[in-house]
Amino acid sequence: MGLTANRYPPSPIRFRPLSLRCLITAGPTREFLDPVRFVSNPSTGKMGYALAAAARAAGWTVDLVSGPVSLPEPAGVMVYPVVSAAEMLRQTDALFGPCDILIMTAAVSDWRPQVSHPQKLKKTGEALTVEFEPTEDILAALARRRRPDQLLVGFAAETEDVEAHALAKLARKDVDLIAANSVAGPQGAFGSDQNRLVLLGRDGFRAVLGPAAKTAVATALIAQLAPFLAARSR
Ligand code: CTP
Repeated sequence: MGLTANRYPPSPIRFRPLSLRCLITAGPTREFLDPVRFVSNPSTGKMGYALAAAARAAGWTVDLVSGPVSLPEPAGVMVYPVVSAAEMLRQTDALFGPCDILIMTAAVSDWRPQVSHPQKLKKTGEALTVEFEPTEDILAALARRRRPDQLLVGFAAETEDVEAHALAKLARKDVDLIAANSVAGPQGAFGSDQNRLVLLGRDGFRAVLGPAAKTAVATALIAQLAPFLAARSR
């Protein structure tokens, strides 16, 4: 039998896409003073990369906007490398529209030098005073233009009063959930393979994940999102 034309008319039912689209940011940003000097932080990107792998394992389509890190790209994940907070804002903003879930683990620099010199500054033997200006708060900016069906998850890196500060950030940035972690001392989250997260939401939602390997904590966090996603798609 030869090829036959499709005998069925197009279905009037519109299906939701099978795969959820998840946008994750990870790692530090670098804010250059001149071509050889920058301000940054000790973030290694491990938590964000573990989340990208866990989200992929859950069957989601994953975009990962990554500051400078030394980690292998997670299989099946689209990685967008950036350097500065301004670049991270531009790239994340460009990918935000079609995403169902945004998870901002990136340790975005809160300030950048007001002037970035095009040539290496030569030392003079004198003290150097650098003026810093604030960078844009990416998460807060995206939250202001979100759709109601998008789920926004922030991270809070704190050195003291971890949960109180994280709850204040949840309200200030107007996100659905915030994952609080301690970055105090040598046992803090930066660079470690282990983490303990307290996931905080509105109406008193609270779940403790870990302490455990970041890969296990990432899988647990992705699993925690299911009821929130179901509530939004109704
Ligand atoms: N964040 C962001 N843009 C910034 C700073 C932070 O999007 N310029 C995001 C982080 O990715 C994280 C959340 O906001 O999801 C909280 O970041 P954190 O560094 O803990 O707090 P800050 O907002 O920087 O506030 P503070 O420095 O006062 O603790």
